[in-house]
Amino acid sequence: MDQKKVAKLNLKNNELPTEFPILSGSMGPDVIDIRKLHAKSGMFTYDPGFLSTASSSSKITFIDGEKGILLYRGYPIEQLAEHCDFMEVCWLLMKGELPTADEKDSFVKSINAHSMVNEQLIKFYQGFRRDAHPMAVTVGVVGALSAFYHEALDVSDSQNREDSAIHLIAKLPNITAMAYKYNLGHPFNYPQNHLSYAQNFMHMMFAVPAEEYRPNPVLARALDRILILHADHEQNASTSTVRLAGSSGASPFACISAGIACLWGPAHGGANEACLNMLEEIGDESRISQYITRAKDSNDSFRLVGFGHRVYKNFDPRAKLMRETCHEVLDELGLQDDRLFKLAMKLEKIALEDEYFISRKLYPNVDFYSGIVQRALGIPASMFTAIFATARTVGWVAQWSEMISDPEQKIGRPRQLYTGKSTRKVLPISERT
Ligand code: CMC
Repeated sequence: MDQKKVAKLNLKNNELPTEFPILSGSMGPDVIDIRKLHAKSGMFTYDPGFLSTASSSSKITFIDGEKGILLYRGYPIEQLAEHCDFMEVCWLLMKGELPTADEKDSFVKSINAHSMVNEQLIKFYQGFRRDAHPMAVTVGVVGALSAFYHEALDVSDSQNREDSAIHLIAKLPNITAMAYKYNLGHPFNYPQNHLSYAQNFMHMMFAVPAEEYRPNPVLARALDRILILHADHEQNASTSTVRLAGSSGASPFACISAGIACLWGPAHGGANEACLNMLEEIGDESRISQYITRAKDSNDSFRLVGFGHRVYKNFDPRAKLMRETCHEVLDELGLQDDRLFKLAMKLEKIALEDEYFISRKLYPNVDFYSGIVQRALGIPASMFTAIFATARTVGWVAQWSEMISDPEQKIGRPRQLYTGKSTRKVLPISERT
């Protein structure tokens, strides 16, 4: 982080401008360092939704929303999706470099060594209703992991941080797959460590004791790609939640549970489930225009889910890759004529040609396609966000660990613009009207 320039801000009339350092990162816009703003001026900045605020410095992920660029540790997402698997991407996000063959081997071994959960944890599932949403179960069970790893509370110890990261990455597929199996009333499947991470995930979700289960390699590769594309995304809402929760020194398992809770919302990770539900609701190509009209109506809260992004304003590079995977999976399964896929393609075409969407730079995002791919893999819509949470766990732990080891780290404590009542006097109850 370089400081080359200063910003001169006229904070008060008739006074000389106050100077603030301008910091430059390795890529992306410069930032005005306003940490001393309050001390110098008595004022705060006001930026709900963080539209113009960098909440931290980070070396992990870079996005250029105008150009549609996404880099993990400097590597373009397209190259990672083509040449690497999810385990390599996990190592990259956590350690900063792609692993050698030996490093990958030992990382996979440590993930495998922690893929089971404590048998006691499995009993938690019985406390949930059978129809509980997998995200509700995942929020609870991941938070409960903090009761099993008390030593992880010393987050200043880098070995503890690494151990917690491995536990979380290793156990998330098992925890979310059990949430699904519990819905179905099926027995839980223990992980099979001879399988790859994605194959193992499919095995835990789809295998039943009565039959042999062999994950289809094309479909496993598609799931692996979903995991890669969702692994990290800079300071998004759930990652910021994890950082904020972690800034107090809280248990990493509780922090990741907070991130999962944030991810669940339909404006964030819940969009893939909401998108598929929307396609089901539209149901037929003849009804598309009716829904487009609703999406454009400012008096209607309906939004075309799977379109638009806070950061990507030309295209979402993950969407391009997911669209490609969508075709591969549907070809493999002979589902090119799939009703929802054809409907989605038609909707995409109509929206991309519509002035409302063009002028607001609303393009399909990754979740527009990921729901269709997951549905083709046999994953029910209620599990989509849990799959996203499994993928994003590595991003969350990498960002959390980076924050803890940052010497400039402080507990997160935003200020506010107070708009409530000014100071007033409490009257005795007999005098209140
Ligand atoms: N359908 C219809 N209109 C939309 C949509 C949409 N999907 N998205 C934005 N707009 C309109 C919005 O009404 C506003 O119009 P106007 O200027 O006339 O008031 C304009 O576009 C700008 O929208 P915004 O809400 O200010 O933009 P934002 O950056 O705050 O919101 C978003 C980004 C992703 C929350 C929003 O585009 C959205 O709700 N999309 C649908 C949900 C979705 O697909 N979310 C997944 C995001 S990708 C997964 C992830 O990374 O978490």
